[in-house]
Amino acid sequence: MVAGILDEVYAACRDDTSGAPADYIPELAAVAPDSFGLCLATADGLVYRVGDTDVGFTIQSISKPFTYALALADRGLDEVARHIDVEPSGEPFNEIALEPDTQRPSNPMINSGAITAASLIEGPDEFERVRDCYSRFAGRELRVNDAVYQSESRTGYRNRAIGYMLRSVGIIDVDPDAVVDRYFRQCSIEVTCADLAVMAATLADNGVNPATHERALSTALTERVLSVMTTCGMYNAAGDWVTTVGLPAKSGVGGGIIAVLPGQLGISVYSPRLDGQGNSVRGVAACRELSRRLELHFC
Ligand code: DON
Repeated sequence: MVAGILDEVYAACRDDTSGAPADYIPELAAVAPDSFGLCLATADGLVYRVGDTDVGFTIQSISKPFTYALALADRGLDEVARHIDVEPSGEPFNEIALEPDTQRPSNPMINSGAITAASLIEGPDEFERVRDCYSRFAGRELRVNDAVYQSESRTGYRNRAIGYMLRSVGIIDVDPDAVVDRYFRQCSIEVTCADLAVMAATLADNGVNPATHERALSTALTERVLSVMTTCGMYNAAGDWVTTVGLPAKSGVGGGIIAVLPGQLGISVYSPRLDGQGNSVRGVAACRELSRRLELHFC
């Protein structure tokens, strides 16, 4: 039944070629724009897939919940909360603003909060620990796409501005260039739609990877990550997403989206044509349709 519905949703969304791949990072525009993959992985280890589920693309902002997870594991809830709030901002992902009273980023899903989370990863070799963490969620060793990393690093002035702003108010207390470089690398980690489904299913399975049975995150911290994905994962489209899909989720400008039904399953979509808010057009449509057809609406 699930496989049949997945096929039908895929067919229903396939012909929509509206939107365009992100091009503010030049290398992101080099993808095949009409790739389309859809996966559903259950918390007990089944994976259903249709379309381009083995095509590599960069994780981009879908990295944010996973780096936040590692920061929480390294520093604990209270210490992380002193640096990053958990309030939706209602603003685009790259807003340059901090909370007026505390100077914290509003949440870890916008760039300022994600860069702060990256600053809280413990060393030595902080980026390797980030890569290891994502690999545990995916159940295989993930690597950086060097061309995308170089392209983002060459053009990432706005994120550098955010890093310097955070350093100037003391929210990060280490070299902002090193932290922003870590953030560029994490965004450039290459995944497939199938990887993202397993990563989402690991969140659904209380932090245990259903394929490898390895624990990637504690149950309590998984709950925190899913809560923040619910309120902040889709940025200024979060309200629309929660009302029409009803699942914790995260999107990335590489064209990926993950959505999680806690205790049950993870969904991933890859389709690089984006809407005006930076979310995959077919990704949003497929998640809406899957949620409706499988009655997944949860929050
Ligand atoms: O900060 C950036 O520009 C990117 N590397 C990540 C942005 C992103 O994926 C926003 N999400 N929808």
